[in-house]
Amino acid sequence: MKISLIGSGVMGEAIVEGVLAKGVTERRQIWASDLDSQRRTLLKTKFEIKTTASNREALKQGDVVVLAVKPQTLPKVMAELEGLLGTEQTVLSIVAGASMATLSRGLKHRAIVRAMPNTAARIGEGMTVWTATKEVNAVQREWAKSILEALGQAVYVDDEKYLDMATAVSASGPAYVFLFIESLIDAGVHIGLPRDISYKLVLQTVLGSTLLVQKLGAHPAELRNMVTSPGGTTAEALLALEETGFRASVVQAVIAAFEKAKALGEEK
Ligand SMILES: NC(=O)c1ccc[n+]([C@@H]2O[C@H](COP(=O)([O-])OP(=O)(O)OC[C@H]3O[C@@H](n4cnc5c(N)ncnc54)[C@H](OP(=O)(O)O)[C@@H]3O)[C@@H](O)[C@H]2O)c1
Repeated sequence: MKISLIGSGVMGEAIVEGVLAKGVTERRQIWASDLDSQRRTLLKTKFEIKTTASNREALKQGDVVVLAVKPQTLPKVMAELEGLLGTEQTVLSIVAGASMATLSRGLKHRAIVRAMPNTAARIGEGMTVWTATKEVNAVQREWAKSILEALGQAVYVDDEKYLDMATAVSASGPAYVFLFIESLIDAGVHIGLPRDISYKLVLQTVLGSTLLVQKLGAHPAELRNMVTSPGGTTAEALLALEETGFRASVVQAVIAAFEKAKALGEEK
């Protein structure tokens, strides 16, 4: 499979790194474009792939054309690439908020895959939700799936409406988790733990808890009950969290992100 990468920033680099690490394709099959010469040099040196300053040149090469530019750059890039895609080519967009209808109209192309990854893709531990237009055939779907699974886990959905929901949960999600991690580290420091120790304690606690839920396949509330002794310290802490609206704050945050994702999509 030949891959053209339009926009070689953080996510573009993650995609190249992932597909090469997982053996999805060979380095000679990848063409990456970027306006920034430093990004081109970095990708060329690090991965020994072909790079170009011309999006049109990159586009010509790929079976799959990956769009990984910022949302505000997308209209310009679509105007540049409009009508140039062959019927056998597939577009795989990770651009936040860009609907398949917008991409299809802007590029004058029907075979579109829209995906929403998250930042953990940078280490192959990402969570991606994706969908495709009906013009994407079975082989093209497999190509898209193999690229997205090289970034971590990937879930296919048959309705595009789930992409805005995924944006609010898994794409913005790492920011919520980072804030929780930061708060718990600060809390440890607040009660007297040295910062480096608090950092270590919190990271392993979050990681271990996630792995435990995953491994046991249990409901989180069940595991929470198991560590909450009657009249104990955890019960006291959980009451304080409920009193200060922790659960409602998380729900409100996700609703706010979801509304924003929908609004940004409609603006386009
Ligand atoms: N980062 C995430 O966690 C994440 C998660 C989900 C989805 N996404 C989506 O992924 C996309 C890329 O995000 P990112 O974090 O990788 O952004 P980024 O690091 O800014 O990468 C975008 C790259 O595109 C380059 N570029 C700008 N104008 C261009 C043009 N006309 N033609 C070709 N390349 C051009 C930029 O160069 P300059 O720096 O010189 O402008 C930059 O190197 C975004 O649409 C974002 O919504 C990101």
